[in-house]
Parts: sequence; structure tokens; C-alpha cells
Amino acid sequence: MKTDLHRQFPANFTWGVATSAFQIEGAATADGKGESIWDRFCRVPGAIADASDGDRACDHYNRLDSDLDLIASLGVDAYRFSIAWPRVQPLGAGEWNEASLAFYERLVDGLRARGIQPHLTLNHWDLPQALQDRGGWTSRETVQRFVDYALGIHRRLGDRLATLTTHNEPWVIAVLGHENGYFAPGLKDRRATLQVGHHLLLSHGLALQALRADGCRVPKGIVLNMAPAYPATDAPADIARANLDDIRARRWFTDPLFLGRYPQVIADEIQALDPTLVRPGDLATIATPLDHLGVNYYTRHVASADGSFKVESSGLPLTDMGWEVYAPGLTDLLLQLHAQYPLPPVTITENGGAFKDPVTDGQVHDADRTDYLRTHIAAVAEALRQGVPMAGYMVWSLMDNFEWASGYAKRFGIVHVDYATQQRTLKDSAHWYRDFVARCRAQRCATTAI
Ligand code: FCB
Repeated sequence: MKTDLHRQFPANFTWGVATSAFQIEGAATADGKGESIWDRFCRVPGAIADASDGDRACDHYNRLDSDLDLIASLGVDAYRFSIAWPRVQPLGAGEWNEASLAFYERLVDGLRARGIQPHLTLNHWDLPQALQDRGGWTSRETVQRFVDYALGIHRRLGDRLATLTTHNEPWVIAVLGHENGYFAPGLKDRRATLQVGHHLLLSHGLALQALRADGCRVPKGIVLNMAPAYPATDAPADIARANLDDIRARRWFTDPLFLGRYPQVIADEIQALDPTLVRPGDLATIATPLDHLGVNYYTRHVASADGSFKVESSGLPLTDMGWEVYAPGLTDLLLQLHAQYPLPPVTITENGGAFKDPVTDGQVHDADRTDYLRTHIAAVAEALRQGVPMAGYMVWSLMDNFEWASGYAKRFGIVHVDYATQQRTLKDSAHWYRDFVARCRAQRCATTAI
């Protein structure tokens, strides 16, 4: 069965690897780059577990060509990356930075020259600090700034992209960034959280409309992080809790995107905390049809009304992040989405695990990660078999990188990075993934030949 996995995917299925700008680029001030909220946040004492920052990261900005060769060596179809907004527009408005635009142009052209599709995300969290100083995503002004940014990038790169994504994981920006202060900009304010969620959604919808009006034919969409919510027991209180958690984490975003309305629980909260936040027409804009949906999946969520469920006692293996490894959750999630909404083509835009990678004789035998990838790819195959319109799968991540508040201690890469030397080494999982993608490709040729 294991060896047949590659046969379960259609010829046009896209296999890729993913990264984001702040996590790999480094070069924090090169070529006139502006400050981002993550540059600022890393300087807050205690904010990052190992007191590190993104100043150097994987030094990708200075190693573009060799990193492009690295991606090509994996034989993947696609690479998902993001643009650092403060690099190309240091103040988040007005003037564009030519040197940085040229960098992303080299990235996109370099991918295409190697036969790899460029999948671009506009906002993977590193908002220009200058916009944060004016309220950031809590302010409706940022919405218009984002639309201008999207248009500027489209005019420069648009026709060369495979897909364009507005935001990565609005829930994380809203909740981790503004409710519990765990991520930049480090606020703890539920009202701000709801404002941020709404403005991210609104800017997404407006950007899609503006891009279409600008003649953009690249498939456009959004990437959401999702975990299916399961009740810890059959008790009605646990079931109710799972339902509520699902609304507050997932349907807060998917209902407006696909149905043009907020779930009642969220609508009531907005009404109570900021009654003028949602203006007439906003929800219709947010529901502008998507050309693609990106799903980031790492683990499931188990809800218990009394908070008694603990992942440590669930019996499932845990990753180095302390997240349960639960591949069937990915199938369940995709089936649930398919049943609830009229889905566009869906790509798993992130999936992977942090593990304590054993390094022996310059090799990394990360069997846990290979198992993780194989079982989750099988879960995607199952969703496909049951009719979910799956279009692609991307591993998080191409290489070890700056894992936000966890710093460099958590390694998600299928390529190991030695941060002292910046040497990249393919882990066993990278060899496995490369061989797996090659089998998919070989079968693609066989299918075409028939
Ligand atoms: C996701 C982020 C990504 C990475 C993974 C582990 O939430 O989108 O940048 O940090 O988690």
C-alpha cells in the first residue's frame, strides 16, 4: 500500500515546498529595507524563546542562487514564498524600493528558469512597522495600503506567478498577535483582535477585486490555518465546546469568505466591542470568489469544557512543538470544508513537523518527519478519493528557519541548516520527498504516454 501512494494523485497535482520571507531572508537592513513589526518584536526582552531575531536567519537574501538550486535539486513542481512588504515598500506606502523588487524578480525568474512554479504570498506577517505606528491591522487605513501594495507587486511580477495569495493565517495574526501577545505586535486586546480579523478579510477581498480590475489573471486566494475540533468525550458540554472553538478559530474566517456572513457568536462580539467595525458592503467584498484556497494543517484540536484534556496524555506522538501527530484530522478537516462550502481548488500550503533531528556523520536521520509527511500525504489522497478538489501539497518547510517566538530551536526543514556556517544538508525526509515526487512525475509521464 505504502509504495502505491504516488499512484493516488492525478497528473496535474502540484508538489512543493514552502518558506516565508522573515523566517529565511535575513539581511534585515540591506538595500534600504524598512523595519517590520517582527524586527521590532524580536527586540522585546523575553519575546523570542532563544532571544534570537531574523537579522541573519538563513541568509537567503544573499544566497538566492544556491537556494534556488537547492529547491531544484528536490525536483518539486512549486515553491511557496512570501514578499517582505517593508523590503519593497519600506514605509508601507508611497515609495518603492527598486533593489528589493529586483531581488524578488530574480527569485521568480530563477524559479521559472528551473521549471518551478512561483507561488507568492503577500502578507506572511511582517507588516511594515511604519504602518503599525499608525494602528497596523486595527486601522482601516492599512486595508487601503495593502491593496496598493498588492497592485504594485502585481504590476511588477504578476504575469510570472503561478498563484497569488493575500494573507497567510489571519487567525494567527489576529489572535496570537493581538489577543495573547505571543506574536508581533504583541498586543493583548480582544477588541483589536476582532478589528484585525475584519481588516485582514476586507483587505483580502478588496485586493482580489482590485487585482482583477487591473487585469490580473493569476489564480488568487488566501491561506488559512485550520485544525478540526473534536470533543474530548461524548458529553454534551464537550461537544458544545468543540463547536464553539471551531467557530472561533475556523468559521470566523471561512463563513465570511464563503458565505458572506460572520458566525453569530463572532457577529455578537463585534457588535458588543466595536459596533461600527463592519460597514455596509464589507461582507460582500470579503466573499469575493476565491480561485484557490490554501490550507495549513499541523494538528487537531481536542476540546473539553473543563479544560481537562491534555495532549501529553492523549497517547498520540507529539512533535517538538508539543503538537499531536494526527494525520486523519487532515482528511476530516478537508471533508468538513467540502461539505460546508463551495470550495475552489484546495492546496495544502503548509504541512510538516518540528522534530529533534539526530545528526550523525553529517546526515540527518529524521524518520519521524518522513513518517509525518507520508501519513499526511496519504490523508490528502483519501480526501481526494472522497471528492475534495485537491490541487497540491507543500511541505513546511524547505529548510530549518526562524520559527517565530520559538526562535531557531524548532526545526521544521526537510533541509538542515547549520546556522554558524549556513551550510544546507538534505535530511532523510528530503531524500524521501524527492524520490516520492520523482515517482509521481514518472507516473505522470507513463500516464501521458498512454
Ligand atoms: C505556521 C506559519 C509558518 C510556520 C509554521 C510552523 O503557522 O504559517 O510560518 O511557522 O506555522
